[in-house]
Amino acid sequence: MEYRKLGSSELSLSAITYGAFAIGGTMWGGNERKNSIDAIHASIESGVTTLDTAPFYGFGLSEEIIGEALQGRDRTKVQILTKFGLVWDGSNKGKGEHFFDLTDNGKEVSVYKYASKANVIKEVEESLVRLRTDYIDLLQIHWPDGSTPIDETMEALAALIRQGKIRAAGVSNYSVSQLEEAAKTISIASNQVAYSMLNRAIEKDLVPYTTDHNIGIIAYSPLERGLLSGKYFADAKLKADDHRNGYFGQFDPEKVKALIGKIQPLAQSKNATVAQLVLRWTSLQKGITVVLAGARNAEQAISNAGAMDFTLAADELQFINTQLSKL
Ligand SMILES: NC(=O)c1ccc[n+]([C@@H]2O[C@H](COP(=O)([O-])OP(=O)(O)OC[C@H]3O[C@@H](n4cnc5c(N)ncnc54)[C@H](OP(=O)(O)O)[C@@H]3O)[C@@H](O)[C@H]2O)c1
Repeated sequence: MEYRKLGSSELSLSAITYGAFAIGGTMWGGNERKNSIDAIHASIESGVTTLDTAPFYGFGLSEEIIGEALQGRDRTKVQILTKFGLVWDGSNKGKGEHFFDLTDNGKEVSVYKYASKANVIKEVEESLVRLRTDYIDLLQIHWPDGSTPIDETMEALAALIRQGKIRAAGVSNYSVSQLEEAAKTISIASNQVAYSMLNRAIEKDLVPYTTDHNIGIIAYSPLERGLLSGKYFADAKLKADDHRNGYFGQFDPEKVKALIGKIQPLAQSKNATVAQLVLRWTSLQKGITVVLAGARNAEQAISNAGAMDFTLAADELQFINTQLSKL
């Protein structure tokens, strides 16, 4: 495993960071708790020291599982990254920005973006309880909330750093102009954004800005939520309540299948799977600090950590990039 410094912060994170969205179950067709705990333990045993979660993932369940999985372990050897600013329980009383609605276990849920100072402080206290810890390594606003001035949210983060409740402040899904606004109040360690072989939008403006300003990038959904493993073109099936039934629709299956077919021999030559090749390529792209890979079980977790066990030479990266340019 490689460990990389996150922007201007003092945090050193594992280049493959464990993503705990799917183990929350909601939107992902559920997950077995034991498999989730095993995935976290297997990640740590494979050199992954960093875990990324959010209150929204499983409406608290993902954080709770991480808290349970870390019991009896040295807290200082792992970095917990979590978030705030998505509210689903009505506690925002209509304030904030409506984001989307979803059905969870037959119940209609309205999700709001809400990042007022009071709400940030409240959410952090709840996260600390679920995570069974007294500090969070990196706290990130989950999505920009257009109804709260950015400086108000950033002041809350600055106060939490002063109190020792968080070690560093991050954002997620922020644009360059939102980063510029946040920088007026606080030093931002990182921006967590979508990035994969199939979604390279950040390369245009965001990566040049974060590189120039020493802000880390935490790349999420690098496997395009499992699609880039190739298994959904073979025999893997999605449950009815899995959001990927819609999500995968944005990609042209023939093009993705063709891409996977082209890069498969290179993966094989490295004794790697296509998923590992995809993660390794992602970790080598300009400006990317860590690759946030989700895993539901120990097998996936071990495989994802193994993406850092081989490297790609310049001509191999070029070969992949040529295939990507044909998409
Ligand atoms: N900030 C944000 O707005 C935001 C948004 C999305 C994600 N994230 C973060 O980024 C993390 C990673 O993104 P993600 O979970 O959305 O997607 P991802 O990492 O691209 O894909 C994860 C999914 O792919 C499948 N998978 C994982 N490893 C595999 C392997 N080795 N072989 C075959 N299949 C494998 C698993 O699902 P199946 O087995 O069911 O196929 C897994 O749940 C999240 O967990 C979360 O921490 C943040």
